Formats: sequence, structure tokens, C-alpha cells
Amino acid sequence: APHAPIDEPQTIPERPALPLIGHAFDLPKGADGHDHLMKEVKEMGPVFRMRAFGAETVIIGGLDLVTELSDESRFRKSLSPDLIEVRRFAGDGLFTAFNHEPNWRKAHDILMPAFSLGAMRSYHGTMLRAARSLIAKWDRAVGAREVDVPEDMTRLTFDTIGLCGFGYDFQSFRRDQVHPFVGAMSRALAFTQDKVESVPGAELFKRKQAEQFRRDVDLMTDLVDEVIRQRRSSGDTRTDDLLGRMLHTRDAVTGEPLDDVNIRNQVITFLIAGHETTSGALSFALYYLTKHPAVLARARAEVDALWGDADTPEPGYGDIGKLTYIRQVLNESLRLWPTAPGFAVEPLQDTVIGGKYAVRKGRTLTVYTPALHRDPAWGENVELFDPERFTPEREEKRPVHLFKPFGNGERACIGRQFALHEATLLLGLLVHRYRLIDHADYQLKIKQTLTIKPDGFTLELARRAGSE
Ligand code: HEM
Repeated sequence: APHAPIDEPQTIPERPALPLIGHAFDLPKGADGHDHLMKEVKEMGPVFRMRAFGAETVIIGGLDLVTELSDESRFRKSLSPDLIEVRRFAGDGLFTAFNHEPNWRKAHDILMPAFSLGAMRSYHGTMLRAARSLIAKWDRAVGAREVDVPEDMTRLTFDTIGLCGFGYDFQSFRRDQVHPFVGAMSRALAFTQDKVESVPGAELFKRKQAEQFRRDVDLMTDLVDEVIRQRRSSGDTRTDDLLGRMLHTRDAVTGEPLDDVNIRNQVITFLIAGHETTSGALSFALYYLTKHPAVLARARAEVDALWGDADTPEPGYGDIGKLTYIRQVLNESLRLWPTAPGFAVEPLQDTVIGGKYAVRKGRTLTVYTPALHRDPAWGENVELFDPERFTPEREEKRPVHLFKPFGNGERACIGRQFALHEATLLLGLLVHRYRLIDHADYQLKIKQTLTIKPDGFTLELARRAGSE
């Protein structure tokens, strides 16, 4: 009953479940999983419990509860079983560190200055250089062949984090396939995900995959060690990129630098966290631009006002802040498809949430952002792609916790400015230069690893002419 007193807390609703197996068989994998979960949020309400093989989670999909869970005096980040598995290759890197591990605070403090808005000024030129490698490739594809959007966005974001973070050039646009690190990483993430979703012990029957996993982890570790070795042996002591900061600055509190194993974990973390999500966000934005000609026309008007019909525009650092409509397009894409589609928290003490549900200390509560981002507080037609939701006037009125693509609080995304700067620059350049031809009448299909992206999205390209 809605008026139950707080001292008699209710249990969180759940569907009838089979013993042991729980709800595992109800959960469709991959893309359909999202349709299923969003439907569950609609039918079961903004909080319900789900069980699969002993692992249990509570799904949270509504504004009031997310607002409550965002209170850091009561809740902190929880590592979901997937993230615990990812620790097998990212260790105590920022993303997968437990709150109690001292290296989290240390690395956070050392790295924060490298992600300030001001730091973006120093990455801008490098981001532009990476964008131009993509453009050179797309120019060659004009009138000749289709481009695979998510693949090329992955090349772009991977090269960008390599160059800006570690001064290392992965040269992804010179390769037919994505860089071997990306392949190894995708397989390793799929392996860990699979392990979490299947019957305990099933991995015993997957010797081959387990061996492949070990090879993939070795490949990632060896590559990262090589990146670090190159920098060390170059004698370069710059501190204006991520690697330089980690190697040559000390933590203000302890006076210590990060240790070598932790630096390796951070580099792997940044290579993963720094590209998958941004590449997905760019792909969704291009998808929506392709399907919404009026939005595309406004985005073009915005870049044309800055760069006219220059064949090779020279976007300055300051231009990015002026591309406000393109930023709205990105935000609206991240609303509908937040590419890291959730984050988990846990109560610091036994508590009651939503005024009535008892929750034990340490219990994982998963904020499912695709549902939060469709909460009725967004207004009507929440499924409609509409960048007007992000005008400054409407942003000001929006409840603080209604839009959470970058997570919450201290453990929120450290790379947010980096991602937005990079993505805004690239989208601006692409809509300025090309007509995007939806040759296959693409129907959105979502591919899920730890992150989500449009699967099999290809475009044909033409150069714009005159006022097209
Ligand atoms: C954390 C999303 C881009 C590095 C997070 C979290 C989310 C997120 C939701 C919180 C995860 C949790 O609470 O468990 C995104 C999205 C991006 C993006 C949607 C792009 C559109 C980036 C980039 C970098 C990055 C470009 C690095 C250059 C990280 C790191 C953390 C993190 C290191 C962990 C922070 C900590 O716990 O201290 N991100 N991210 N992300 N992100 Fe991002």
C-alpha cells in the first residue's frame, strides 16, 4: 500500500522467479534486452528486483529514486559483477577501483587537472589532426563506397585518446581492420560479460575462450607496457598529457607517485573507457542527424556561420563552445541512448528508499539510465528525438538528476569534457563537409558489449556543394 509507514518497510517488487535460475531466462540478450528492460520499468514501476543465478540486482528507472540515490552521504558507487570481471584486466584503474582502494583517490587527484576545461585547449590541435585522418578516408569513399560509421568512429576515438593521452599514434586509418588492441578488448569484454550471464561453472567448458582471453589480456598489457616504455626511454618529462602526469607528478597528500602496476591499469582503463562510449555517442548522433533533415539543416547553418564554405576549415579551440546546437544534438542522442547505459550504487548503511523499500548496506542498486531518460518528467513524446529539450532555458528548468549519461558524483565520468569536445568538433566538421546518404534505409539495431552502439550502420557520402 502506498501509505505504509516507514518502520514497516516493504520488499521491493519482483516477478515470480524460478528457484536458483531466477529471472535469467526472461532476459533477452543484447538489443532486445533494452526493449525488455524499458518495458519492465513501465510495467513494474521505477524500482524492481531481478535475479539471475544467485546474483541479484535492483533496477532503478525513475527520477525520484535516482535523485535519492544520488545523495553521496548515503550511497556510493558499487562494482557490478561485470565490472568486477573487468578488473581482471583493468585492475584498480579509476573505472574499476573499489571506493576503499587508496589508489582511487591518488589517481583521481593526480589526473583531474588533465581533464579540466582548460586542459582541452592543449588537446584541441591533436583532436583536429585525428579528425582530419577520418576526413581523408571519408573523402576517398565519396561516390566510391559506403562507410561503416561505428567502425570509423571507433578508429577516430581510439587514435584520439592514444595521441592526446599518451602521445602514441595507433594509426587506425591506415589499417583495414580496427587496431588489434580494440579487437582484443572487445573479445575480453564479451568474455567477461558472458561469464556473468551464464551458469556458474560454465567457463570450465570454455577452455578455448579462456585461453583466448588470456592471450587478449597479454596483448593489451604488452602494448600498454610498450607505450610506457617508449615514453620513459625518450627522456621526455612533459606533464601535459595523461601519461606524463602519471609518470612525473606526485600525489599532493601522500607525496608519492603512482606505482607502475597502477599506471598500467590506468592506461588500459583510458584506452577502453576513453573510446568505446564516445564512438557510440558519435554514431548515434550521426544516425539521428541522418534521419532528421530539419535538425541536420540547423546543425549545418551553425557550422556554416562559423566556417563559411572553406574547403578545409580551421576550427579554433574557441569555436567548440560556439557549436551549441551540435552540443544539443549530442545531448539528445545521449538521452535516448546513453552509451554506458547505467551505473550502480550501494547504500553505506541499511536504509529505506522511496520512503518504503528496505535495502541492506552494500546491496547493488542499478540506475538504468535509458529508462530514467524516458521518465515522464521529460514531457510528452519521450521517444521522439528532439534537441530542443537541451536549449539553455530548458536545461535550467530541468531537475538536476534527470539526465545522467556520465554517472554521478565523485565517481562520475572524468572524461566528460574530453568526450564532448572531441565529439562536437568531429560532428561539426562532418556536417560541414558531407551529405549523409542513408543508402540502406538503416533501421536502428543496437549492439551491446559493456557499452551500446548502432549495429551495422553504414552511410554513403557526397561532398556538399553550395548551399546544400
Ligand atoms: C566513468 C560514461 C567518455 C573515462 C564513467 C561513468 C559513466 C561514463 C556513466 C560512471 C560509471 C560508474 O559509475 O560505474 C561515459 C560516456 C562517455 C565517456 C557516455 C562518452 C560519451 C569517457 C572518456 C574518458 C572516460 C573520453 C577518458 C578519456 C572514464 C573514467 C571513469 C569514467 C576513467 C571512471 C571514473 C572514476 O570512477 O573515477 N564514464 N564516459 N570516459 N569514465 Fe567515462
